[in-house]
Amino acid sequence: MTDLSVNGLAEPLPDITNGNHLGYRSGRMNEAALKVASEHGWVAPKSYKYDADQATTETPASNGDGLDSGENKDDNATVETGATSRASKFAPGNWAHDAGRYEWKEEYGDVGPRSEKLEEELFNSKFINRAGGNFKNLTTVKVIVESQKRPAPISDFETAGIHPVLVENIKLCEYQMPTPIQAYTIPAVLSGHDIIGVAQTGSGKTAAFLIPCISKLMGKVKKLAARRPNLAGNFDAERERVRAEPLILIVAPTRELCCQIFDEARRLCYRSMLRPCVAYGGGPMREQIAQLNLGCDLLVATPGRLLDFMSRPEVLSLSRVRYTIIDEADELLHDDWETEMTKIMSGGDANTDGDHRYLLFSATFPKRLKKLAAKFLDNDHVHISIGRTGSVHINVKQQIIWTENNHKNQALYDLLISMPPSRTLVFVRSKKSADLVDDYLFNMGLPSTSIHSDRLQIEREDALRSFKTGDAPILVATGVSARGLDVKHVMHVINYDLPSAEHDGFNEFVHRIGRTARIGNEGLATSFYNDRDSGMAPFITKILVETNQSIPEFLEQYKPEGALNFDEEDPDVEDGAVEDEGGDAWGAKGGAAGASDDAWGNGNATAAASEPAWGGETGASAPVEETRGTYTSTPVAAW
Ligand SMILES: Nc1ncnc2c1ncn2[C@@H]1O[C@H](COP(=O)(O)OP(=O)(O)OP(=O)(O)O)[C@@H](O)[C@H]1O
Ligand SMILES: [Mg+2]
Repeated sequence: MTDLSVNGLAEPLPDITNGNHLGYRSGRMNEAALKVASEHGWVAPKSYKYDADQATTETPASNGDGLDSGENKDDNATVETGATSRASKFAPGNWAHDAGRYEWKEEYGDVGPRSEKLEEELFNSKFINRAGGNFKNLTTVKVIVESQKRPAPISDFETAGIHPVLVENIKLCEYQMPTPIQAYTIPAVLSGHDIIGVAQTGSGKTAAFLIPCISKLMGKVKKLAARRPNLAGNFDAERERVRAEPLILIVAPTRELCCQIFDEARRLCYRSMLRPCVAYGGGPMREQIAQLNLGCDLLVATPGRLLDFMSRPEVLSLSRVRYTIIDEADELLHDDWETEMTKIMSGGDANTDGDHRYLLFSATFPKRLKKLAAKFLDNDHVHISIGRTGSVHINVKQQIIWTENNHKNQALYDLLISMPPSRTLVFVRSKKSADLVDDYLFNMGLPSTSIHSDRLQIEREDALRSFKTGDAPILVATGVSARGLDVKHVMHVINYDLPSAEHDGFNEFVHRIGRTARIGNEGLATSFYNDRDSGMAPFITKILVETNQSIPEFLEQYKPEGALNFDEEDPDVEDGAVEDEGGDAWGAKGGAAGASDDAWGNGNATAAASEPAWGGETGASAPVEETRGTYTSTPVAAW
């Protein structure tokens, strides 16, 4: 393994002593172990019990958002009764959907005035992730774009044709330069294309889709948006409420991820008329509807809750949607979600005019999904791949440790105690294991909490909040939390159980360890491995080779001879497609082949190209051409 200094791991952890902790404990805390943990610098675990009344009367939200195989993904069940009454006890405003956002008033001109208080909350929280010292590493990967026009990536936000208010918001976010997925996606969306965007974990895909969509609409909201109440003065919620008619719809598979995307949308929509909302299962339906009733131009939603709202025309209409964005698209295009996604993509009163763009994003995108995805997209859609699809970033240092199942608890404890305390995410394979491992750590005096889909939504939100704040810096999680979550200073991901090779384990492995080392930060991923994980062995070994990590002896036998070939894990290659990503153009018959391998973004690329580049407003109305080209480059010339 490449060296990772662990000395600094503890620094980001605040010295918090009054944390809350969820009450799922059995057994008794081992006092001697508590002393040891404390001597090693871990904050003391705290137990927190919701009031007894709640604990007994609430129906558990046994309805996750489906990333764990076998977990019920209907994220609406139990909500109206259980969660609503719970909400009345849970302090209003603590739910993620209630988070503060910029409220537009009719008297504002084109841009609203600043609000110092909101700015502080939106942009200055110490828990917001910031670019790390290895940010440059993000820009050295190979970029492959399949499109009908030659790509012209942007090299900064200021001159990219982004709405000036949004440029200011990007500055407040402290984004100094676009990441590669942003550099390519932003001009492609601004010029009217549908997108498949694939880039490594933690490389800024959320902003890549939010920035151009928000920018395109920012100046036009007055014209395009539905009627909305004037929230200034004596706003009467009963009489003046409206139905939500969003212009931007974002669908993501888990509740926590939706809330996180909503947070980023709140930042980027600041001082604009665009009002973001979030809707997700397990949260109180009535309160979410009350938020929609105030006007909603950008809606982030889990599929189950979205379908529920779609079936209530007085609550939600999709007839104005200009951008539908599917985050973690490979997960949502999976057969498990087919019924929901078919309805969402083509059902209800969705806007079927040609001005409706579709954007699909993920860090993993199996080849077999290309055809399926293409059904939803325009012929001139742009497929952007930053790095090998499904690859792990080199900023993640990895180690694989042989651990028999009956030694895993001890090994986990030893590992945690042997390193400086740090925010650590421990992945297990089942909900039961999550409870047991959390219990074990807690009883051993370590500040852990856990999250999985059998927990009430309040408890899920609380667990994540405790993890983020450092109250409970160890979070034990199932695969529900593998995708998308962006928590500052997650320094260590531990695969207590590796995912199962039979259940999309390769992709899950990539997403799981991608919870650390995000946006140029460093991080460590440790995986416990034994005979039962042999299905994962060839894949993991190739990942280790690809990212230049050392290979443990027990994996030596899986080390491939010659060039790495990941098609074994992703076999469904389309007929006629070329294996090498650099030459894999869909149906391309050499139309733009001459453009391959040129350097982009260097000022004269456009002139040299045989096809016009993106960047103007011409894309949407350009005639559809017969062929697509594949354009590759590394590194991105502009950086
Ligand atoms: N240009 C930028 N400069 C600095 N930080 C950025 C930039 N773009 C995004 N970020 C930050 O990087 C972090 C990771 O971004 P994001 O969650 O969008 O990654 P992602 O590519 O969607 O990862 P995943 O595949 O895990 O979902 C976020 O905290 C985000 O605010
Ligand atoms: Mg993401």
